[in-house]
Amino acid sequence: MNSAEFRRQAHGVVDWIADYLDTIEPRAPVPDVRPGDIRRQLPAEAPEQGEPFERIFADFERIIVPGLAHWQHPGWFAYFASNASPPSILAEMLAAGVAVNCMSWATSPAATELEQVTLDWLRRLLGFPEAFSGVIQDTASTATFTATIVGRDQAWRRAGRDARLVFYASEEAHSSVWKAARLAGFGESDVRRIATDAAFAMQPDALAAALEADQAQGRVPAVVVATIGSTSSTAIDPVPVIGRLTRTHGSFLHVDAAWAGSAALLPECRHYFAGLELADSVVVNPHKWLGVHFDCTAHYVRDPGLLQQSFALTPEYLRSVHDAEVVNYRDWGIPLGRRFRALKLWMVLRNSGAEALRAMIRQHLRWGESFGSWVDADPEFERMAPVSFALVCFRHRPAGLDEAELDQHNRRLLALINASGRVHLIGTSLRGRFVIRMAIGQRSTEERHVREAWDIIRASANRTGEG
Ligand SMILES: Cc1ncc(COP(=O)(O)O)c(C=O)c1O
Repeated sequence: MNSAEFRRQAHGVVDWIADYLDTIEPRAPVPDVRPGDIRRQLPAEAPEQGEPFERIFADFERIIVPGLAHWQHPGWFAYFASNASPPSILAEMLAAGVAVNCMSWATSPAATELEQVTLDWLRRLLGFPEAFSGVIQDTASTATFTATIVGRDQAWRRAGRDARLVFYASEEAHSSVWKAARLAGFGESDVRRIATDAAFAMQPDALAAALEADQAQGRVPAVVVATIGSTSSTAIDPVPVIGRLTRTHGSFLHVDAAWAGSAALLPECRHYFAGLELADSVVVNPHKWLGVHFDCTAHYVRDPGLLQQSFALTPEYLRSVHDAEVVNYRDWGIPLGRRFRALKLWMVLRNSGAEALRAMIRQHLRWGESFGSWVDADPEFERMAPVSFALVCFRHRPAGLDEAELDQHNRRLLALINASGRVHLIGTSLRGRFVIRMAIGQRSTEERHVREAWDIIRASANRTGEG
């Protein structure tokens, strides 16, 4: 593809993206396809001869788009949102265009320095401790794994390689937390799933008991992960108490605020983040709630030197004359090669401005509260967890069904809700009970979409008795 052709096609692609975003609402949020439907339409072999871009693009529209879920849809209430605002899409295009690899300061000085500046901006906007330094990772999973390795290595340095290290998190922690423990070498018998209270938050007394019991048996409490805004119910672990316990026991404290962290932009939400000054590491995903195109995870650490002790490895070919004066982010995590992610964070923070981001999150929080009050007011429905960070967990509760039947009934209800083709929600399990999650957080969602979702849910509940 020559430059003239690239220019022509790129204009067409931008027009297509703008039209796509303008016309997303009438589409069903998830495609009606069965496993293999897309693959069957694609040839088994790559072409020997290049094809015209028009033909490839026609296949993109004909084969690929019908098999996509529309995460930017206003009826997207599943998982947590993955917002891609227009300035972040432009930034991704520019990052693709300049195609730099941001592994070291020397391999693109502006990328490293922009990452430092934008992460400091974000830290101040969130009111996170000044002592924290930031690095952009691809996902919260990677940040949590990175933090777990740092905590493990620190414990090894303190207690020796033969020490029996232990990892702690609440039973409601995200799967990425347990994956991090497993990948860092903690066996099942060295992992403690700490019990939660009625609001699904970690019970600090249970954590204290586990830490003490392990220490009494000669084990080393190495890593504790607390969550602010758990995936199933946005539960908030009591970080101030957990932080004091980890200080007493010399454990590394990582805080997973992947979704909820963005709400720290709001002064009225700051109290949820109390105790962060006691943490060693915290993760927030601007690629979820802040409109920054996936992937962009902000990982803040108290002591970047610990990251470097675990991850820095410098062969001759990676050295540069400025190494003593600069940050080389390749030493702050697992991959050597790094995408230019700071650009989209910078462009979103500048083009949106903090005020507009606060206004959006405030609206989502308000609609979450309203939705929770509609559930509470309807005697046929039951709210299954406190409402925080715009997530409402609920179930339909017709009379006369036992717990197992209620699970089945709500699974059927969820399928009916999603079959409307207007909204997409998912379910989860809280204390073994199946519940439906209404996660509000998509930037294209308006209040009318939240009302429509509730209408669809009630109408679907009325139909669960049919057939
Ligand atoms: C609380 C929490 N932690 C971690 C993750 C994983 O995020 P990522 O996809 O960035 O790894 C999620 C995903 O929704 C989450 O809700």
